[in-house]
Amino acid sequence: MRAVVVEQWGGPENLVEREVERPTPGLNEVLVRVHAAGVNPVDWKTRAGGALIEWGAVPAVGWDVSGTVEAVGPGVGIFRPGDEVFGMPLFPRQAGGYAEYVVAPARHLAPKPASLTHVEAAALPLAALTAWQALVDTADVRPGERVLVHAAAGGVGHLAVQIAKARGAYVIGTASAAKHDLLRELGADEVIDYREHRFEDVVTGVDVVLDGLGGETAERSLTVLREGGRLITLPGPDDVPAAPDGVLAAWVLVEPDHLGLREIAALVEQGRLRPVVDTVLPLAEAAKAHEIGERGRTTGKIVLTVA
Ligand SMILES: NC(=O)c1ccc[n+]([C@@H]2O[C@H](COP(=O)([O-])OP(=O)(O)OC[C@H]3O[C@@H](n4cnc5c(N)ncnc54)[C@H](OP(=O)(O)O)[C@@H]3O)[C@@H](O)[C@H]2O)c1
Repeated sequence: MRAVVVEQWGGPENLVEREVERPTPGLNEVLVRVHAAGVNPVDWKTRAGGALIEWGAVPAVGWDVSGTVEAVGPGVGIFRPGDEVFGMPLFPRQAGGYAEYVVAPARHLAPKPASLTHVEAAALPLAALTAWQALVDTADVRPGERVLVHAAAGGVGHLAVQIAKARGAYVIGTASAAKHDLLRELGADEVIDYREHRFEDVVTGVDVVLDGLGGETAERSLTVLREGGRLITLPGPDDVPAAPDGVLAAWVLVEPDHLGLREIAALVEQGRLRPVVDTVLPLAEAAKAHEIGERGRTTGKIVLTVA
C-alpha cells in the first residue's frame, strides 16, 4: 500500500511516499481503508523529533482517519466490512494514519457521522476528543459557567467553542480579528482580539480556561480564573503553571475513546458541532500540509485525501 513515512527526523521534506506492507488485523482489530487523514500539530512535532512519542522501527506519522472497514480480526463484534468509521487509533503509539490502510483496535474507532464527508470526519477525532476530554471529562463544564478558549479558531479551539456551548456554557474565545465572525457563527458569546488586548485586561470571573498556547498564556490565564476554576493547558506538561489553592491547573493528553467519539458524532448529528476544514491536500502533499500547519495560522483543520 502507499504510505507517507518519515525518512529521518527533521523538516517536512523528510515526509516521503513509500510502498509499504499492508497491515493485517489481529484479535479485536479492524483494518480500515483510509479515505481521509486529519493533520494535527502532534504530527509535525513528532516528525521534527519531538520527545513525547515513542517510535517503532518504521517511522510513521498521522492518527486521525476516516474510512471504510475492509476486514475485521477475530473477536470484533461492533463493526463489519463496509462500515464507515472514524477515529484516532493507538495514540500516542504509532498508527501510521498517512496511509491507504490502518489497523486499529475496534474500540479506538466509532461509526462516522453519516452527515459528514470523510474529509470532514477526518478533521474531528484528535481535536474533538481533546476538547471533549478536557472540557467534559476533566473540567466538567456546567451550564452557565464561563469558559475561555485560547486559540479558539484553531483545530482544537473551534471544536472546543462548540462543545462548551453545547454544554450550556458562556463562551469567550481569543483569535485575531479576521476570525471573529466565524467564532460568533460557531457560538462564541464574546471574542477577544489578542493582538489588540491582553485577555486578562478584558475578561474576569472565568470558570474554565482551555489553553492551546501554553507558556506565558497559561501563566496569565490563572489571573482570570475564579475560585474553583480549572485551567487545562494542552501543549505539554511543562506548560502547567503552579496554581493557587482552590484552582486546578493540568495538562491532559488526548487518548483513543470510543464513547467520546460517539458523543462527538451525536453532537454532529444534532447540528451542534461541525468541523471547519481550512485546507484539503492529497496524501502525496503531506509535506506541504505540514508546512502550512506549522505556520500556526490555520482556521479549523488541514486534511489529506487518501482514497
Ligand atoms: N495535550 C493534547 O492531547 C493535545 C491535543 C491536541 C492539540 N494539542 C496542542 O494544542 C495546541 C493547539 O493545537 P491546535 O490543533 O488547535 O493548533 P492549530 O490548529 O495549529 O492552531 C492554530 C490557531 O492558533 C491561533 N493562535 C496562534 N497564536 C495565538 C494567540 N496568541 N492567541 C490566540 N490564538 C492564537 C491561530 O489564530 P490566529 O491566526 O488568529 O493567530 C490559529 O487559528 C498545539 O500545541 C497542539 O500540539 C495538545
